Amino acid sequence: MIKFTVAEFIKCQVKPEQIWVSLERRMHCGLGKCGHCKINDVYVCLEGPVFNYRRARDLID
Ligand code: FES
Repeated sequence: MIKFTVAEFIKCQVKPEQIWVSLERRMHCGLGKCGHCKINDVYVCLEGPVFNYRRARDLID
């Protein structure tokens, strides 16, 4: 859903630095202990859960 929404924003010429996404649906413990939120090397619960699209681009599936 996020990637489709972002694609629509990009089509409407919204700049990537103006787009923020929340990846909190991946979170479980919220403390950096369970690893459930980990995407690549990023712990969403520790570094987010809200990311600028420039940063989140590689995290969105
Ligand atoms: S939610 Fe458990 S490590 Fe991030």
